[in-house]
Amino acid sequence: MKVLLGDKLVEREDVKIDMEDRGYQFGDGLYEVIRAYNGTFFTADEHIERLFRGAEKIELVLPFTKEELKNRLNELLVANNIKTGNVYFQVTRGIASPRNFTYPDPTKVPAIFTASVTDVPRDQEQMDKGVTAIILPDYRWLHCDIKSISLLGNVMAKHEAHKKGADEVVQHRDGVVTEGGSANMWMVKDGTIYTHPDGNLVLPGITKIVLLKVAREAGIPVKEESFTLEQLKEADEVFTSSTTIEAMPVIEIEGVPVGDGKRGPIVKQLQDLYVADVEKNCGKIR
Ligand code: PDD
Repeated sequence: MKVLLGDKLVEREDVKIDMEDRGYQFGDGLYEVIRAYNGTFFTADEHIERLFRGAEKIELVLPFTKEELKNRLNELLVANNIKTGNVYFQVTRGIASPRNFTYPDPTKVPAIFTASVTDVPRDQEQMDKGVTAIILPDYRWLHCDIKSISLLGNVMAKHEAHKKGADEVVQHRDGVVTEGGSANMWMVKDGTIYTHPDGNLVLPGITKIVLLKVAREAGIPVKEESFTLEQLKEADEVFTSSTTIEAMPVIEIEGVPVGDGKRGPIVKQLQDLYVADVEKNCGKIR
């Protein structure tokens, strides 16, 4: 498998990350994931924009322009002959020794960039069936808008779900639902869809942007408003969204069925609208 290390395409086995890399030592870095369908990236510009916004927030000097990054990612996709899959990439604040919490001078310590791509077909069966979730307090930090590689909070939450036999986690702060473990969280009540507004408590999802757009175009009432665990219990439908899972129904929370325990009509409509938007950009996918 070919991967990217900086601006070079190299074999995966040839990448050796330095033990003093700040990503390894501090989790000091950013990441992104972009999905490709039929050999074409979907919403690449939006993901790249988010990376650049995150970099500005943490004063990370990125080692490429937006155009250069896009070209490199395309080369990676072609080199691995991936048609439908996910590219993950990380940028860390480089290799600095001796260990020091404060940022090193970026003119002396350049950021380190790696990217890999894997073939991941769409899981239509799962998208039809939906997933189960548990509820947990959101123990993460207060910069959830930054797509940081420090994912321990998310890792712990999702592992807790896994131990309880569930697929996802509904995270909340003082009873207000924030997001999933690695996805935005939505509910439907009386035909209106709700999701937590952007801000420091949730990641500004790219899938969320697309879903909000297609919902509004289709005349589905949308409110970018947070909702509580109490409201969640009364929801007609619940779903999560991310680049890798599109719009995914949540059919059971803490062992209690959501609605009738099956994918609801609004999420089904959103799934179809999302696919239509992907197909406009990347060609037929189902
Ligand atoms: N996760 N919230 C969190 C905490 C996430 O990690 C993600 C994405 C999202 C949805 O963002 P987007 O629609 O831009 O993918 C929301 C990715 C898929 C991951 O870490 O694998």
